[in-house]
Amino acid sequence: MEPPATSRRTLLALGASLAGAAVAALAGVPVLGALLAPLRDRGPAGASPFVDVAASAALPVGRRARVPLVEDRRDGWERASVEVGAVWLTRDAAGLRCFSAVCPHLGCAVDAAPDGGYVCPCHGSTFAADGAARAGPAPRGLDPLAVREDQGRILVRWERFATGLSRRKPA
Ligand code: FES
Repeated sequence: MEPPATSRRTLLALGASLAGAAVAALAGVPVLGALLAPLRDRGPAGASPFVDVAASAALPVGRRARVPLVEDRRDGWERASVEVGAVWLTRDAAGLRCFSAVCPHLGCAVDAAPDGGYVCPCHGSTFAADGAARAGPAPRGLDPLAVREDQGRILVRWERFATGLSRRKPA
């Protein structure tokens, strides 16, 4: 005996619907992945990238300058330029050097001293021009940062170190 035609038609319709739903779901996977990708990427992980901070020509031999470090950050769908810190750049006969402007004592911003060194306004720590600690409560010298030049631009790798320690340790 043959099954009723309506039941075969219903079965075929159901099969077609399921197949259509499966195809639609498969097609939606990459779209959903693309939409949710920003949530996985919340900015640089691990070592920070080098950040462009200034033109090489702006720092001739014998000059030093305090420059803010601005990184492009992405948080979900938001993109923003965020000031992550500041550095001291100095160029002398020995070449280009970069120090974090964060005092290794408790984290205040260090200023340039008239003698070529650096001074912290918070508790009076002083540092030599090469970043070495000279006096005051700072337990170590200024933190040197990786710096390089490329196509007329100065690039710095920003790192934050724990304060209050005699040994340098990433914060
Ligand atoms: Fe710089 Fe204390 S924070 S000396």
